[in-house]
Amino acid sequence: MKKEPDFNYIFPFTIFILFFLTAIFTGGYVMADDETLETPAYESSVVNLPDPVYESDISLEETLRARRSVREYSDRPLDLTQVSQLLWAAQGITADWGARTAPSAGGLFPVRIYLVASDVEGLTQGSWEYDPISNTLTIVKEGDMRRDLMAAALGQGPVGNAPATIVISAIPEITEAKYGDRSMRYIDQEVGAVLQNIYLQCETLGLGTVAIGAFYDDQVAEVVGTSATVRLIMPVGVVED
Ligand SMILES: Cc1cc2nc3c(=O)[nH]c(=O)nc-3n(C[C@H](O)[C@H](O)[C@H](O)COP(=O)(O)O)c2cc1C
Repeated sequence: MKKEPDFNYIFPFTIFILFFLTAIFTGGYVMADDETLETPAYESSVVNLPDPVYESDISLEETLRARRSVREYSDRPLDLTQVSQLLWAAQGITADWGARTAPSAGGLFPVRIYLVASDVEGLTQGSWEYDPISNTLTIVKEGDMRRDLMAAALGQGPVGNAPATIVISAIPEITEAKYGDRSMRYIDQEVGAVLQNIYLQCETLGLGTVAIGAFYDDQVAEVVGTSATVRLIMPVGVVED
C-alpha cells in the first residue's frame, strides 16, 4: 500500500523558519541601532593635516630676536595649515628612523602633543591628539573646553581666549625604562626644546603664544582626556594688529 506523506512536521518547521527570520531581521535592526549609538557626533574623528612647509621669509636669527610671549590674541580663528605647521614644529618627523624637530634622550620620544581646538577652521571643538607619523589629528574629547582649561590654569586669560591651546605631555615610563630616576629631568629638557620650537614657529607665522607652566596637572589632563603627564600648555592665537 502506498504510504501517505506525513505533514505533521510542516507546522513546527514553518514556525521555526518564521522565528529564525524574525530573529535575523530584529537582530539586524538592534545591531544597526547599537552602531548608530556608537557613531560619534563629529563628522570625522581623524583629520589629515596639510603637509608642513620647510621655508619662510624670516631668518632663524630674526626669529630668535623677535620671539616674545604673547598673551592677547585677535578673535580670528586658526586654520589647519597653521595648526599643521605648529604641530610639525613641536614633534614633526625629520629623519627616516623617526628623529623629530626636537631632540629626545636616547631617541625614545616620550612627548605626546594634544591640541585643544576652540576656534580652528576644519576642526570640531575639542581635544585632539597629534600623530606625527601619519601627520593626523585624532579626536579625544568633544566640546568647547576654554572655560575648564582656563580654570585649570589658575584662571589665566590667554588660555580662555585663544582659538587653540597646545598641550605638551609625556609618557614618563617610556624614558624611565632606560634612564630611571633621571627621566623627568630629561623629559622636561625635551619639553623645553618643544616649547621653543613652537614659540619660533609662531613668530614666522604671525601667531602669538606663551608658555604656561602654572596649572593643576590633573585638572588639565582631565579636561584634555589624557592619561599622559601634562608638562606645559601653550595657547596660540593670531597676533592683534
Ligand atoms: C617654564 C615656563 C613657565 C611659564 N609659565 C608661565 C605662566 O604660567 N604664565 C605666564 O603668563 N607666563 C609664563 N611663562 C612665560 C614667562 O613669563 C616669559 O617667558 C618671561 O616673562 C619672559 O618673556 P618672553 O618670553 O617674552 O621673553 C613661562 C615661561 C616658562 C619658560
